[in-house]
Formats: sequence, C-alpha cells, structure tokens
Amino acid sequence: MISELKTSSLPFGTLPDGQEIWLYTLEIEGVIKASIMNLGATLTHLYVPDRLGNMADVVLGFDDLEGYLQKDYQDNYCYLGSTIGRVGGRTKGNQFTLNGKVYNLPLNKVTTHLHGGEAGWDRKVWSADFFHDEEGIGVTFSLSSPDGEGGYPGKIDVQVSYRISEDAKLQITYEAKTDAPTILNPTNHSYFNLSGDLTTDITDHVLQVNAARFLPIDEDSFADGLLQDVAGTAFDFQKPTLIGEALSKQEDIQLQRGNGFDHAFEVGQSEVDAILHDPKSGRTMECITSAPAIQIYTSNYVNGHFKGKNNIPYKHRAAICLETQGFPDAANREDLPSIKLNPEDKFWSQTTFKFTTSL
Ligand code: BGC
Repeated sequence: MISELKTSSLPFGTLPDGQEIWLYTLEIEGVIKASIMNLGATLTHLYVPDRLGNMADVVLGFDDLEGYLQKDYQDNYCYLGSTIGRVGGRTKGNQFTLNGKVYNLPLNKVTTHLHGGEAGWDRKVWSADFFHDEEGIGVTFSLSSPDGEGGYPGKIDVQVSYRISEDAKLQITYEAKTDAPTILNPTNHSYFNLSGDLTTDITDHVLQVNAARFLPIDEDSFADGLLQDVAGTAFDFQKPTLIGEALSKQEDIQLQRGNGFDHAFEVGQSEVDAILHDPKSGRTMECITSAPAIQIYTSNYVNGHFKGKNNIPYKHRAAICLETQGFPDAANREDLPSIKLNPEDKFWSQTTFKFTTSL
C-alpha cells in the first residue's frame, strides 16, 4: 500500500509572555497521525486504527494550548505527553555527586525535584524542523540548555525527533552533547489509553513487560534498595496480564507506596520490551527501546481534577505511561547503568511504539 505522507504546522496558542506555540502534525493516512507542539516537544495527539480501521486518539492531552495552561492542570501538573529532561523521575535526597562535587536540585514538588524541576524541558519552547527520510517523515525539536540550568552542570544541546512510518511506528530519538561532565536521563511522558475513548480507564488493558526485575521505592517514591525479582509479586508482567488484576494486589507494599505502578522495570532482555493491548478495540502497542528501563506509571495521581480533550475529565487510571529511560537515581548508584555524559560522548537513545490490531 502506498499511502500519502503529510506534514502540517498550525498555530496552537500563545503563552502569557507572547510567544506563539505551534502544532506540528505528521500523517500517513489510515495508518498513523501524530501531533506534537513545540512547548515541551509534547505529543498532544496520536491517532491509530482499531480492528475495524477506525482511527482514534490514544493519548491524553488537550485540544489547544489553553488546556495545557489551565490552572486545574497546572496545579496537578502531570506532564501529559511531555519531553522530560534533564533527568526523568526522582534523584534520592534531591542531590547527586559528580566527580566529587555535590549538586543540589531545586524542588518543584513539596519534597521533590521531579522530572528536571521547574526548569524542565517540558516547560521550554523548542525550535522545530520537519524531515523526510527512507524510514518515514518526522519533526526534530532542538533546544540548548545552559550550564547550571535546573541545578545541572554543563551546557547541553539536545534534539528530540519524532518519526512516523508506513508500518505504523512512532519513533522517538534523543541525541545530545554536553560541554562539561553532567548527567542526562530524558524520556517521554505520554499517557496511553488504546481504547481511543478517553472517558474510560486502562484497568481492562493487558500488559506484558519483558522484565525480570524492578526497582523498589520508599514511602516518598524515591528509588530504594536493589533491583528485585518480579517473580511472585504484583510486578510480574512477563506474561500478558490484566492491569486491573495486577493493581488489585493491594497487599503488595510496593503497590501501596506508589499508589499503583510507579516503578522502573529493567528491560533489554527481549526484542520487544513491552506490549500493551486493549481487547475491546483490538489495538496493540509494542514498545521497543534502547534504554535500560521503563518507568511504568498507571496515572496514580490523575483524579478527574482537570478536563482534557472534548472537555473529558481524565479519571483515575485513565491511561498508562511507559517512560523509557535510565533508572531513577542512577546518578547516585554504582549498581545501575550510568547516566553520566561527558563532552567526548554523544548521547543517543531511541524508543519505538509500534501499533497493530488483532481480532
Ligand atoms: C512519576 C510519578 C508522577 C508522574 C506525573 C511519573 O513519572 O514517577 O510519580 O506523579 O510521573 O508527574
């Protein structure tokens, strides 16, 4: 099948400081359509077909920039679809030591520096350029993050590319360089609900994660202790598992601490790292990543406090995030893959979300 590959850019709204925000859309008709705004290089819409060929939007977000700026959302900031940087998740004690120097990270939650803090990449206006290559069409977002921004050393130049292809893939590629030793652990924070009906929740979705171990957390959701075997726990998704059933294992202290799943799983042992399936629509999403971990987050703090697309209040468990990244707190740990970046290195990480349907 030869489908038409289309790109468009349209104004999406204006920030309080007068900066115009644009929405960049990539489309392969009947196969996949993705829109990304240049505020936070944020995935706002993602249309894929169900088993009957009906296209529907499978990510949480808002219809326009105003939605992202509304107070009810800002007060419960959940990073819907955002690019996260410099460092995803939480760093224990909100500090890290690099080459003998201690760096303190400013808090943006009550007790936590989360997802890069107040100066996070989700808050930045990125520049954007479309591209077209043998694999598909895409848009590259670029940003220069100055030395010291958000409490992190080194000036980082980063590019995040979103590409769609005829085989119904959305691929996100991160490339970065630093001018001084630093740490870097970016991700994307999309909330998926494959039903395409964003009034529903994902407890009836089936999840497989090819991970034999996960990283436990403490009462404040900071990584705590060594990687732990999933076998015999609520965290065993090595076979397709109903998310609602896994969430019902409330006796699991780790589930209690996270208010659901909010944990990093160690991946990289299989060709496909995770598979999410919605039995009703037949949509399946495979996740394949070069990153060593996936932070699985079941919308634990989404509670209908703000209205999303079509004025739909996003309810508890409305969606699931598969945040492909290095492990949280890797900056402070020798037992986890390093997230250090030196000037002589080039950072590269790629995640593919591939969509199929089944009967
Ligand atoms: C974090 C959660 C947080 C959520 C939204 C996840 O990646 O691990 O604890 O509530 O993002 O901010």
